[in-house]
Order: sequence, then structure tokens, then C-alpha cells
Amino acid sequence: MNYFYKKLILPLFTVLLLCNSFTASAQITKDYDLWLQYQKSSVANDIFKNIALNTKDETNKAIQDELKTASERMFQYSPTFSNSGNATLIIKKFSELEPTQKNIINKANALNDEGFAIETIQNKGKKTVLITAKNSLGLLYGTFRLLRELQIDPSKKHFSIADEPKLKVRMLNHWDNLDGTVERGYAGSSIWNWQKLPDFIDKKYIDYARANASVGINGVALINVNSNALILTPQYLEKVSALAKAFRPYGIKVYLTARFSAPIEIGGLKTADPLNQEVQQWWNNKVNEIYKFIPDFGGFLVKANSEGQPGPQNYGRNHVDGANMMAKALQPHHGIVLWRAFVYSETDSSDRAKQAYSEFVPYDGKFEDNVLVQVKNGAIDFQPREPFHPMFGAMPKSKLMMEYQITQEYLGFSSHLVFLPKLYEEVLESDTYKQGKGSTVAKIIEGKPNELSGMAGVANIGSDLNWTGHPFAQANWYGFGRLAWNPELSSEKIAEEWLQQTFSKDSNFVKTISKIMLQSRESVVKYMTPLGLHHIMATNHHYGPGPWVNDLARPEWNPVYYHKADKNGIGFDRTATGSNALAQYSPEIAQYYGDLKTCPEEYLLWFHHLPWDYKMKNGKILWDNLGIKYQEGVNEVKNMITTWESAKPYIDAERHQEVAQLLTIQLKEAIWWKDACMTYFQTFSNLPFPKEMETPKHDLEYYKSLQFPFAPGIKPHW
Ligand code: GCU
Repeated sequence: MNYFYKKLILPLFTVLLLCNSFTASAQITKDYDLWLQYQKSSVANDIFKNIALNTKDETNKAIQDELKTASERMFQYSPTFSNSGNATLIIKKFSELEPTQKNIINKANALNDEGFAIETIQNKGKKTVLITAKNSLGLLYGTFRLLRELQIDPSKKHFSIADEPKLKVRMLNHWDNLDGTVERGYAGSSIWNWQKLPDFIDKKYIDYARANASVGINGVALINVNSNALILTPQYLEKVSALAKAFRPYGIKVYLTARFSAPIEIGGLKTADPLNQEVQQWWNNKVNEIYKFIPDFGGFLVKANSEGQPGPQNYGRNHVDGANMMAKALQPHHGIVLWRAFVYSETDSSDRAKQAYSEFVPYDGKFEDNVLVQVKNGAIDFQPREPFHPMFGAMPKSKLMMEYQITQEYLGFSSHLVFLPKLYEEVLESDTYKQGKGSTVAKIIEGKPNELSGMAGVANIGSDLNWTGHPFAQANWYGFGRLAWNPELSSEKIAEEWLQQTFSKDSNFVKTISKIMLQSRESVVKYMTPLGLHHIMATNHHYGPGPWVNDLARPEWNPVYYHKADKNGIGFDRTATGSNALAQYSPEIAQYYGDLKTCPEEYLLWFHHLPWDYKMKNGKILWDNLGIKYQEGVNEVKNMITTWESAKPYIDAERHQEVAQLLTIQLKEAIWWKDACMTYFQTFSNLPFPKEMETPKHDLEYYKSLQFPFAPGIKPHW
């Protein structure tokens, strides 16, 4: 027995244990490593053998670390870093290049401060790859670009690339609270450990910075726009400065949300009136203090007079007064203000979709030069589909930046596979016609060369092992960064390169799975809010459908305000016979969406109230089309499940299994949305469900009775 135990059972047990922990840690690494997998290559490449890199500055050290990791993992050798003549890879600022490398110097000289060039050159009779840029950050971006190219094609040796970001500020907005919760966060708790900062620098912060820099993200607002003034106290500034120090080598600046009433809350003043001199002085002093802690501090992100947040209007002042006060305090330090335009008021009874435009457009040209007005992609609130915000193009004398949501508040949390770059692209490509044909949203936010411009994304990052809750939600972080770098990139390219780096380069796999990614956004629109419906989710947590909600304090908080279903029909009339929100767009757009003959089905009920038996282009009535769309959404999720099943041979079992389980949840919830919404709308249409639609399993009372007191994303307050 003893012998048997020692010779057989014990070793077997040990092997099993080892296997188990090996799989677990391999899995953690894959999930954790995002798109920086650096998978072992089946082909050799000597490119990293001898790297000429001056490792004196901290960004170059970050380059060195990254190349070492990548080379060891992909090609199984450690690079030598020296300045000797035999370099296989030269990474040098172009001020340090030899005059013989004129051609590349010319190419690189035309690039902006963050741009880079990668070129295969002849160096001492040998082919050598050269990465060059004006400064170290450009070299870092060039290195990450080279690594992307090599992850996609490890045998690649010839390069001729020049690239630069089109936008200046490319930032994540974390809606993290100081208590560790994350507003609208579905991937665990905040990754900032305020308790252990400033002394404990979690390795996660560095990996977070690497991931961001790899796609060109260069700014992070650390805490929620519903801000806490404590973040501006020395106790917290010391912690913030430790994070800023960790991010600095990666070219990432830290921004803070500034609570407008901070002078009262932490400054002991009686007012926060922006025209009061004491208040102005308080902000000047505060800003000077911040720059003592963080010499390259980015600036303030401000949510003011929005959803109960304090702001200049509390003192009879306006957005310009508020934004410019902060802007002036930041100017001596080259800091900027990101002033949000997400406003709608309880005292304004006009269509909520019109209010931000009405409040901001009259101030065009009045904001200081270092103010960016941060505008959400649509006029309501990050819905599965919204037409582009009418403010884009309407303030030609001001600088407008884009705000997207990466976290999936209205798109299935982190349980639904939804590839958001498709949504981002749709908005960026939209033609505003404000400065003639071709004045797309992308062109408008790009602004004039060398002027301040930007894009912000509300982060979907949390403490989950895979950062984003859903393995495919990593693609939304990635894709946001890629589009912030170049708003004209195609979502198809983004999906493909993300899959190649994250999962597999196999072309069959990439072709099949990119197809479901690209279609996934349309599917979620169909099973949640087809034909232009919007804002019909449940209250507070926004988890699941709630089209029946009609008893909330403010009219525009209620879903019934948005769908306006009654026995005559459904939809929000935003034409001249209704709220006339269309008048905020250019005449071309107003005409296009306003005319039923040209209005695309996707925006039908956003702009029109139509009878249930309205005949649509396919000859079927609106009611039937609604049911058909909901069903199509469900069917497309079923199809995603089958397709994902076919991807099994191409990827690791663990991530395959994770996604498969999440798709099961997605299907259940898609059916729930279809059934709850159609059962509710049927009480108005009084028509039978179309034959194409699967009949709901429960009655309306059942769907209405569902409660989710602990749904994530908000602090429970029941
Ligand atoms: C939405 C969201 C809030 C958030 C707000 C904002 O309303 O539900 O949680 O605070 O947007 O963008 O400020």
C-alpha cells in the first residue's frame, strides 16, 4: 500500500496538480495579456538579435523591456542592446541619425511630434530595420507598430511605414469611484488601489500603460465624472502622482475630474461662482499645487450642471464662464479643460435630444483655446444606435472632441459580444454637411492641423483577470484606441488585426470570427432597440428591457417619453410637426431623415411617429417588421453560437469555453428583450405577433415583475 502510494498515486497527484495550475496560469496569462500575446512563432526572425537603442531615458527603457519580452516569447531569444555597428534593428530619434540616412529623415521630418517611420535600410552593407521619430514617444509608438506587424506576420523583414496620430488627445475616461466601485463598470472593481498608493505600484498599472501605449492612448482621467472633490486634496494628489510616474514612460498623461463645488467642499469658501475672485484664485492655487505633484498633469475633465452635478449655472453663470475659469488657471502649465456637453435640464421641457445643442451652440467661439468641448456620439446617451450628435459641425469656432462609451452600459454589459468599433465607425463616417459635402464627423473632430483635438472613451476596464469581463470586450478597448489614433480606420481592419494578435492568425478563423464581430453591433440593435427605438431599458441599473416604465420623477427619464407608443402607433416625431430636432442638423440631413421616402429604417422611429400598420419598404406593416427585426437579432445570436463552436480547433479551450458560456447568456437575454418588448408593445398595437417571430414564453406581468437589486454598475441603493 505504502509502495503503491509513493510510486504511483503521489507522482500522479503531483502531475495532476501541476497540470492544473499550469493550465490555470496559462489561461490567466492569455486572458490577461490582451492583444500583446507575443505567441511563439513557428518561423525564425533575427530582427531583435542586436538592437541599437540608447536606453538612457525612461521611455527607451520601456521600449527595451517590451522588445525583450516580445523577442523571448515570439522567437525564443534575448536581444542584445548595444550601440555597436552590427545592429539588426536601430531605434533612434532622427536628430541622432547619420546624414547618409537622409531619405528617411525627410520622410520622418514631415511627421508630427508623435509620428514615426519604420524602414528597412542598408546599413554597413546589411539590411537593417530602422525605427525613427522626433522623440522617444514616437519611438515607442513605432516599436509597438513593429510588434503588431510581427505578431501578424512573424517572418516580416521589409518595412516602409510612416504613421502619425490624427488626434492630439486620445484618452480613457474611467468612471471609477474613490471607494473602488465603478459607475457603469461590468468588469469587477476599480483597478486603482487608493489604499495602497502611493507606495505600492501594482504591476497591473504598468501592463495597463503598455496596452494603452500599444494603440496610442495618451491620457487617462482616473475617476468618475460624477466626481469627488477629495481627489484634489494633497492626500490623493500624492497617490495620483505615483500613478502619473508609472504611466509617464508610456507617454500617458493623467487628468482629473474637477468637481465644480470643490472650492466650497475642500476649500472652505462660501461659493464656487466662477466670476468670484476668491474662487478664481482658489483654482489658480489648486492648479499650481497639482503641477507641483504632477509636472505633466493633463488637465480637468468636468461634468457641470448635468444630472445634478454642480456647475456655473448654480450661480447664474454659463458654461463658458465655468470652463474658461479653469482653462485660465491651467494655461500657464499648458493644461487643458475637457468640458462635457452632456446636459439636459429638469426645467427645460423641450425634447432632450435638442438640449445640449441649444445650451452650447450659442457659445461658439467663446471658449478659451485650451478648452475641448467633449460631446457624446449621439444626443441622448450611448444608445445601441443613435444618429450623430447635431453639435458636430455646428460650432466651427470651437474645438469639439468625441466621447464614446467603451463600457457596455446599454449594450448588454460585459456578457454580450458586441464589437463597438462598428458603432464608432458609423458615427465618424456620418456626413454632417455642415461645411459642405464630405464634412464627416471624423473630419470635424480632427479639426485644423496642430490644433487641439481629441477622442475620449469611457473605459470598460476593471479588476477582472481579463480586464474587461468579456474576452471580446478587449477588442472594444483596442478598437477605441486605434480609432482615436486614426478616426478614418475601418472597423473591419481593426477586427482582423485584433483577432490575429489576440487569438490566432489562421485565415479561416479570422475570416469567420471577424464576420460575427462585424455583425454583432447590428444584432444587439435588432434585439434591443430596432428601427430607431431608444432608451427603453430598465431603470437605474439599465439591465434588461423596461419599455413600460412611466413613473419616474422627470419625464425624460421614462422610456415611454422616447417610444411614445399608443394605439395610433409608435416613435418620436422629431420632424417639423413634432419636436423639430431635425432643424439642428444641416438642411441636407434634415431633409434626408425627415422624408419618409429617404429616412433609413435604422432611424425610422427616432425621427417619426408612425401607425402600427404603416407599410414599409418590404411591403409588410411596421408592427410585423418590428417583430421580425427582434427575431432576426435573436437568430443572429444563435448563429454566433454555431460559428463560435466552429472556432474551437483554432484557439485555447479556456477562452473558447468562456466565450461560449457568455454567448449562452447573450441568447437568453436577447430572447428576453424581444419577448418583453413585443409583449408590451402588443398592448397598443392589438395585433398578433408576426409568423416569423417565436412566441414569448411569459405574459407582460412576468417581464414587468423581474427585479435585479444587485445588478452591477451602480451602488445598490434599494
Ligand atoms: C449616463 C449614465 C450615468 C453617467 C452619465 C454621464 O446617464 O447612466 O451613469 O453618469 O451618463 O455620462 O455623465
